[in-house]
Amino acid sequence: MTTSSTPAEARAGAILTIDLDAVAANYRLLSERVAPAECAAVLKADAYGLGMVQVAPALSAAGARTFFVAHLEEGITLRALLPEATIGILNGLMPGCAADYAQHRLAPVLNHAGAIAEWAAFCRQQQKRLPAFVHIDTGMNRLGLGPAEVAALIADPSPLGDLELLGYLSHLATADEVDSPLPGVQRDRFRSALDRLPPARASLANSSGIFRGAQFHFDLARPGCALYGINPTPETGNPMARTVRLDARVLQVRHIDSTGTVGYGATHPVSPGTRIATIAVGYADGYLRSLSGAGSVWFGEQEAPVIGRVSMDLITVDITRLPDGAVHPGTLAEVIGPHRTPDQVASEAGTIGYEILTSLGRRYARRHVGGPQ
Ligand SMILES: Cc1ncc(COP(=O)(O)O)c(C=O)c1O
Repeated sequence: MTTSSTPAEARAGAILTIDLDAVAANYRLLSERVAPAECAAVLKADAYGLGMVQVAPALSAAGARTFFVAHLEEGITLRALLPEATIGILNGLMPGCAADYAQHRLAPVLNHAGAIAEWAAFCRQQQKRLPAFVHIDTGMNRLGLGPAEVAALIADPSPLGDLELLGYLSHLATADEVDSPLPGVQRDRFRSALDRLPPARASLANSSGIFRGAQFHFDLARPGCALYGINPTPETGNPMARTVRLDARVLQVRHIDSTGTVGYGATHPVSPGTRIATIAVGYADGYLRSLSGAGSVWFGEQEAPVIGRVSMDLITVDITRLPDGAVHPGTLAEVIGPHRTPDQVASEAGTIGYEILTSLGRRYARRHVGGPQ
């Protein structure tokens, strides 16, 4: 066995720090905002890239009782972490797998009539009313019962009698667009379906939906991104605490002494006098290639723009404006942090903060700080 006395953080190209106390504070803020409704927590995609194994207990300690993930396998992992929690599987019932959901006490979100029929039949066969949510599509046209299926269920709700109905849910398509009329339209369609279906709890709001006001809260809110510090109100300041910091290491400093270009494709011209720092983060780490010539990193209070293309393991940044000698091999550059939030990196990359977080690389030395003791 090989051993090394050097700490992982010294060996790693970059260090990702995840603040579990900030995640818990975000949960508490959202929870207070939706009270008396319950606040669930969405933990899919490894808690949006932050690490479900660490984030789930932190949220549970902060008071969360209901959790949603996308996949059955994610639910099985989460069940081992939180034996008592209610866990909903947003991607629904995988055909032929009902027994796996029951074994791990996972509640499928039944997204279409066939899934309701399969779960109801499984419940009858087990002679047990097993928990499930029912998803009503009110305008997303992605998952959930469409209008004809909702009408059929209203006409004959008997399959719901075979299962333990934890609630109806629906999902907003434009919750983060302040001027969009669609959230109100979706809410009214949801209400009208609820009025005609057998009574159960209801859940509509994602993170941004929570900030649209109490008429979107129903009984259970389902925030994801805001827990992790993404701004749920992009039209105003971010009310959420920052949860993530990424520092990447300088590998080499180049003093350019003749005219040339930098990086693949020779896209960026450089002239004598330019100084370049080459940093150990690349698209294989989730530093998206679209940040080529568009992103920037920070050394203390000084910004250094990414020049040339982002490559698999490396970026090159222009440090000509920094004092000579300020940056050297081993210096850490702030890639995500107080000067560059995930939302800002996303806007430079032409994407959304969700994609920045869920792409966070597996090669980083990961430090989770705070959290339950
Ligand atoms: C059905 C459903 N509910 C809730 C969420 C959480 O949304 P957000 O991360 O925008 O809060 C998602 C995430 O995409 C979702 O698909």
